[in-house]
Amino acid sequence: MTRVEETGFDNIFWVQFEGKRHLGTKNLTPGRTYYGERTVRENTVEYRLWDPYRSKLSAAIHKGLNYVPIKKGSYVLYLGASTGTTTSHVSDIVENGIVFGVEVSARVAREFVERVVKYRNNIIPIVSDARYPQNYNVVFTAVDVLYSDIAQPDATDITIDNARSYLKRGGYLVLVVKARSIDPIMSVPEIIDTEADKLKDAGFRILQIINIAPFDREHGFILSQF
Ligand SMILES: C[S@@+](CC[C@H](N)C(=O)[O-])C[C@H]1O[C@@H](n2cnc3c(N)ncnc32)[C@H](O)[C@@H]1O
Repeated sequence: MTRVEETGFDNIFWVQFEGKRHLGTKNLTPGRTYYGERTVRENTVEYRLWDPYRSKLSAAIHKGLNYVPIKKGSYVLYLGASTGTTTSHVSDIVENGIVFGVEVSARVAREFVERVVKYRNNIIPIVSDARYPQNYNVVFTAVDVLYSDIAQPDATDITIDNARSYLKRGGYLVLVVKARSIDPIMSVPEIIDTEADKLKDAGFRILQIINIAPFDREHGFILSQF
């Protein structure tokens, strides 16, 4: 039996399906899926199941993220869009908002556009290196949320530069930290704390740090406010 329940976050639901509890987002494009995800229908609404092993935002919600700053109508600058797995769910959530998706690799960005962007009218792809935020010439307004998942040793510094260029005062930053690309020896929690301290020094207020194991043991997840 299928049962859908509110999570308390816009367009994100708990979907009880085949005896298990899943997260799902309300599909903006019913009938179309993007990376092999399953869909479930209740009444006239279609939900795309959101796998916490494939998306760190889903993992963080499963692990007790208190607040999802991405909402209906949000403008989101997303660094490290890759082929669009998480971006597609962020696009479901913001509905009539906008997702600016930055991806440095032209090959990956092409896949992002072919697989996801062309079916959704709220994503603007930016093929660019996030180290040079001044080069994005399509971000025409300050954003409500900066989401960063670029797996670089200096990802935190790059993200802070992007926040200074585009994030509203009082806006939210989600930083996904790939621990092993920062330090091969230190423990993952120590690395995450060090990156959180860099954010504090840059003027961010840390709201929550989440260990997203067992879904992913290499990354940490930091929610902060500018
Ligand atoms: C871990 S993957 C992102 C996965 C994606 N966020 C998801 O959940 O579906 C990291 C991506 O960041 C991109 N990337 C790495 N460095 C970058 C940079 N300096 N600027 C923009 N994108 C970058 C990589 O090409 C890769 O596609």
